[in-house]
Amino acid sequence: MAQVGHRERERERESDQLSISLIAGDEGVKAAFWRPAHLPRSAWLEHIPFAFWIVSQIKPGTIVELGTHFGASYFAFCQAVESLSLDTRCYAVDTWKGDEHAGFYGGGVFDYVNAYNNAQYSRFSSLIRASFSDTASYFEDGSVDLLHVDGLHTEAAVRSDVETWLPKLSRRGVMLLHDVNVRERDFGVAAVLKQLRVQYPVFEFLHGHGLGVVGVGDELSAGVSNFLKANGDATARRDITNFFARLGRACYDAQVVGRIEQDRSKTLAAGTKMRRAVPTKLLKSESEK
Ligand SMILES: C[S@@+](CC[C@H](N)C(=O)[O-])C[C@H]1O[C@@H](n2cnc3c(N)ncnc32)[C@H](O)[C@@H]1O
Repeated sequence: MAQVGHRERERERESDQLSISLIAGDEGVKAAFWRPAHLPRSAWLEHIPFAFWIVSQIKPGTIVELGTHFGASYFAFCQAVESLSLDTRCYAVDTWKGDEHAGFYGGGVFDYVNAYNNAQYSRFSSLIRASFSDTASYFEDGSVDLLHVDGLHTEAAVRSDVETWLPKLSRRGVMLLHDVNVRERDFGVAAVLKQLRVQYPVFEFLHGHGLGVVGVGDELSAGVSNFLKANGDATARRDITNFFARLGRACYDAQVVGRIEQDRSKTLAAGTKMRRAVPTKLLKSESEK
């Protein structure tokens, strides 16, 4: 009996080693633990550690993002490029007007993202303020190593974005699709991912509204290829998911704490202002009068 328990524990240990070794180029694991530099409001925050990891594994020559809004995902890719000293060109494509799912917004959002980009990453990163379809012809087929699709999430819109941009991916190319686990408000990313699975290896994260990772190229890096293989092994898939989901949750938590602290400072500042506005006479205690 004791021997069976021992053998099971050994097997569990071996499978743990296998799971971790599937994702654990040293550099990649270190990257996943980086502290995010940019934490705006976003449904993407829980994937930031994965963004760091995937950039470390692909070492892309070109990254394109379709749908940037405040830049949570985009500036995570940029942070990885900068921290790993990569020779990568990054492009963020967005009208910066919003859409039916993200909501429509004013020009202040672009000004904010543009200022942050200019201050931090303009050496290698460009913002393209245009529609996805109008921008596609500016990129050669086979030239993009990492494509992140995160625009309007109806099935028709996602299918059109994927069909237009899929030929742009290189032989090392990986495509990320956000919101694959949202099943409400006319979201249809899951249906598009289902079709892509027929042709390409896919790893699907369910946390953070879901992120589909699609290995499009036929010369994927060893790290990416092993990671995608792990989707077929229940233990490895669970361990990898737990790893990135837990680290991702910390990014989300950090954003929430940051917001609470900001609100608190605002309240304190408002209180100080009010106290200043009240004549000193009124603030004196009864005994002082
Ligand atoms: C879900 S938000 C992007 C979220 C962002 N990736 C993040 O990390 O928070 C979708 C963005 O896509 C943009 N968008 C939607 N459809 C577009 C299109 N066809 N062309 C250009 N931009 C589009 C919207 O303006 C919006 O800012």
